[in-house]
Amino acid sequence: NTQTSSRKLDHLRICCEHEVEAGSAGFEDVRLVHEALPEQDLEDIRLETEFLGASLGAPIFIAAMTGGHPATTEVNRRLARVAGMFGLGLGVGSQRAALEHPDVAESFSVVRDEAPNAFLCANLGAVQVRDHGAGWAELAVEMIDADALCIHLNFLQEAIQPEGDHDARGCLAAIAELCEDFKTPVIVKETGAGISRETARLIWGAGAAAIDLGGAGGTSWAAVEVERTEDEGLRSLGERFLDWGIPTVVSLGEVGGTGPVIATGGVRSGIDVAKAIALGASLGGMALPFLRPAMQSDEALEAAVGTILREVRAAMFLTGSGSITDLAKARTYITGKTRQMLEI
Ligand code: FNR
Repeated sequence: NTQTSSRKLDHLRICCEHEVEAGSAGFEDVRLVHEALPEQDLEDIRLETEFLGASLGAPIFIAAMTGGHPATTEVNRRLARVAGMFGLGLGVGSQRAALEHPDVAESFSVVRDEAPNAFLCANLGAVQVRDHGAGWAELAVEMIDADALCIHLNFLQEAIQPEGDHDARGCLAAIAELCEDFKTPVIVKETGAGISRETARLIWGAGAAAIDLGGAGGTSWAAVEVERTEDEGLRSLGERFLDWGIPTVVSLGEVGGTGPVIATGGVRSGIDVAKAIALGASLGGMALPFLRPAMQSDEALEAAVGTILREVRAAMFLTGSGSITDLAKARTYITGKTRQMLEI
C-alpha cells in the first residue's frame, strides 16, 4: 500500500538527515593483538572468502535498507553496482511493498540487473512469512533472483510504531515450516536489538542457514520512530528504548562461531569488520554507513567502500593475517562493559 511505500522514503530521509544511532555496539572495548613482525606483503593479503557456498571478494555485507518506492531505485542500483564491483554481499529492504504493489518491483529487481553475479539477499519480515507463507517467500526470491532470503525480526520497531504488527505469535514456527523445504538458504536477521544465545539456538533449530545478529549500538529503530512521530506519547516511548538491545559485540560473543554469522549493527570501519571476524563472524555487515554515500553518487559510494576495504587489509597486515581464515584466528583483548556482559 502507499502507506508502506511512503514510510520507506521517510526512513531513508530520517536516517540521512537525523542522528539515528544510539548506544554502543562494543567495538571500542575490543582490541586486536598487534603483530609487530607481520612477515608478509600488505599487497598480497587475500580478502576473498566464502559464504553459504558463494565466493565473495571481501567479508562485507551491505545490510538491507531500501526499495519499495520508485525514488529508491537509484539507491539500490548504486548499492548493487559496488556489490558487483567489489564482490560484496547485498541485501535489499523489505519487499513487502512490492508484493502488495507489483508496480514498485523494479526498485528491487534493479539490483540483479545491475549485479548479475553478486550475492544478493531478498528480504521479508517474520510476520509476512507467518501470514503469507512460502508463496510470498518464493516471489521475493524470484523478484531479484536471490541467493538467500533474509527474514527480519524487528519487534522493537513494531512495539513503538502505532501501525506496527503487535502480534508476534507463531513466527518461529513459520520460519521452521518455511526452512523445511525452501530451496533458497534462509538468513534470520535482527535489525538493531541483537540475538541472544538462547534465541540463536531456536533459530538454528528452525533450520536457518545463517544468522545476522543485527545488534544494538548502530542504527536505532527507536530513534528513527522518535524522529518520525509527532505524537508525544510515542516519542517518549521511543526515547525510553533508544539503546535497548544486546550490543553487537556481546551478541557476537554469544552466537559467534555457532554457524555462519553476519555481524551487523554499529560496524563503522574496516577495523570493526576485522574485529567481528576475529570474534567469530563470517562477515561484517553495515547499513547506515553506506546510505549517505549511496544517496549521493556512484563515486561517493565507491570511495566509502574503498576506504573500508583498505582498513580491513591494514588490520589484517597488522595482525599477521594473510587471509580471512587467518584473521578468524586473530587474538583479541576485550575490556570494559562488553567484557562484563560477556561474563554474565
Ligand atoms: C534498515 N534495516 C532494514 N532491515 C531489514 O531487514 N529490512 C529493511 O527493510 C530495513 N530497512 C532499513 C532502512 C534503513 C534506512 C536502515 C539504515 C536500515 C536494518 C539494517 O539492515 C541493519 O540491520 C541495521 O540498520 C543495523 O546496521 P547499521 O545501520 O548499524 O550498520
